Amino acid sequence: MLEFNCKNVTESVIGSENGLNLEEEFNNYSDKIARIINELNSKKDKPGQWLQWMNLGYNEETVWLVKEYAAMVQNQFDNILVLGIGGSALGGMALCEALLKPYWNLLSNEQRNNLPKIFFLDNIDPDQINGLLDILDLKKTLVNVITKSGSTAETMSQFMIVKSRLEAELGDEYRKNVVATTDKNAGILRQISNEEGYKTFVVPDDVGGRFSVFSAVGLLPFALVGIDIEELIQGVKDMDLALKNTDIRHNIAAQNALIHYLMDTKKGKNLSVMMPYSSKLKYISDWYVQLWAESLGKNKDNDGNSVNIGPTPIKALGATDQHSQIQLYNEGPNDKLINFIRVKQFDTTLEIPKIFEFTGIGYLGGKTINDLINAEAESTKVALIDYQRPNVTLTIDRVCPYDLGQLIYMLEVQTAIAGELYNINTFNQPGVEQAKNYTYALMGRAGYEDSANALREKMAIQ
Ligand code: PA5
Repeated sequence: MLEFNCKNVTESVIGSENGLNLEEEFNNYSDKIARIINELNSKKDKPGQWLQWMNLGYNEETVWLVKEYAAMVQNQFDNILVLGIGGSALGGMALCEALLKPYWNLLSNEQRNNLPKIFFLDNIDPDQINGLLDILDLKKTLVNVITKSGSTAETMSQFMIVKSRLEAELGDEYRKNVVATTDKNAGILRQISNEEGYKTFVVPDDVGGRFSVFSAVGLLPFALVGIDIEELIQGVKDMDLALKNTDIRHNIAAQNALIHYLMDTKKGKNLSVMMPYSSKLKYISDWYVQLWAESLGKNKDNDGNSVNIGPTPIKALGATDQHSQIQLYNEGPNDKLINFIRVKQFDTTLEIPKIFEFTGIGYLGGKTINDLINAEAESTKVALIDYQRPNVTLTIDRVCPYDLGQLIYMLEVQTAIAGELYNINTFNQPGVEQAKNYTYALMGRAGYEDSANALREKMAIQ
């Protein structure tokens, strides 16, 4: 169950220069927030609004299809290899890291309940790709290639390499080792899948990459490694129902969206730090960084005005980054809003042995590592307050599918509401497309000749 605490952004806690009068702001914005929530919910089924992700908590058919396929291929593969980038990889990586046993790929078959290992390739470093393909037994590897557009150069070039190696080892039989997740009709991967006869899953219409983790993009890899996707989706659904509440006082996504918006526009705090106190949640920050950056960093508002806005997201990890970033957060520019994620109950309680009793570290003996991480999180929060730095806390009971379904979905809705407050298009990414197109041009893709010429001229004058 997800809880949200925002008292450390208020004037009464961090002073009027840096804090907000939340009571007043909630009153001022209550109508606007109610309008935004109503609009998002009423527009979500209209084609072209890119809001179909708001229906993914209700997509029982995909859950069923994914589970059926996972059951069918169970015990056939030792490894799952996911190829994808950006929104096609980050959610999957974040939730696998969170929900699988730590060091999953190092565990024995028995420790993994005979479920496969899972590897994500989300970059095009030749050494990394080659290194991984050299150690994987491809005959025993199921390759899940994920790209909504079906043409992303990074993913498709990886796939071309993997496909050739698979075919060299398995001949025509290689097809059984490929499952593609892509658009239902459009794109090159769809065309190739039809021609080659791959098993496919669909990235639904009007679901952008960074909002796609609860579609087959995430659900398929999760089901293949035994993550309880029904619990995950139940968390999404319950959070969706809670966030339909149009009263800002009872809608935590609206509260955090408004807090971020006001901290940026009124208090000059345009950096949003995501800092979970749990190593399992480390990559939730990477996922959040993409969600926040691609959704809210825009140069035009919905009325066509030039705005160049967007709070900059930063990833951090507690307690590790207390020894790296916290000095800056406490004493550097007061331009950040810190989002802590806390876990009430870890799976393990780990006692620190009572040794070295008569030394300066004797005080640690007999306590638990759990006590220590909690004490560190509380101390960091209090120190931030001393320095009048705003922070909010999202708390989950446990790192489990249900709670993470709630957390991730809440952050998606928060982003959509923040986009409406900034009056920008949350769901496009022209800045990403621009660089993608230049890459196509440079690599000689047909149809991009004009861009290639323009690009060469620009590169010549650099
Ligand atoms: O969020 C997004 O839309 C992007 O990050 C995409 O997910 C990323 O560019 C990969 O695109 P595709 O899934 O088409 O390969």
